[in-house]
Amino acid sequence: MAKSKISKLSILTEFEVYNSIKDLAKKDGELLLEAQKILKNAYAPYSNFNVGAAVLLDNGKIVTGNNQENAAYPSGLCAERVAIFYAGAQYPNVDIKTIAITVKSKNIVIKEPLSPCGGCRQAIAEYENKSGKAIRIIMSGEKGQIYIAKSIESLLPLMFSKKYL
Ligand code: THU
Repeated sequence: MAKSKISKLSILTEFEVYNSIKDLAKKDGELLLEAQKILKNAYAPYSNFNVGAAVLLDNGKIVTGNNQENAAYPSGLCAERVAIFYAGAQYPNVDIKTIAITVKSKNIVIKEPLSPCGGCRQAIAEYENKSGKAIRIIMSGEKGQIYIAKSIESLLPLMFSKKYL
């Protein structure tokens, strides 16, 4: 007979919910606007799914990025990682405060907040763990509600990190 489990672990994850960009705090709205602007420059001929990301640094600078695709699909990179890695390359000693993410597909209207893929969550987690300070994540679709996570922990519970190494 199989042994019975001793208990159950439940993880609660929370997001702030806003109805539109106008409802965001001024700085958050400005950051999301930068993400909306930069998605126009995405190179996404294969998916037609333009993603924009804007990263606010502790020194007040904003770094932006968008998805860059490749005919050899896995060689492309998501908007979040383009922006975060650029920030890491240009400002290696400056912490990331917030990242705003948004999308515009040529195929359909995305009416729910775009949530970063697993690889991008892990990349955001790395910089959160590096600085020891939470990174806020603002997630938006083309339309509809906007979610804000207070930390990558909300999107990546039980994350793998340097503590295991
Ligand atoms: N993509 C992003 O840039 N960020 C995400 O969070 C999800 C997916 C990109 C990768 C690819 O260029 C396209 O969207 C379709 O997956």
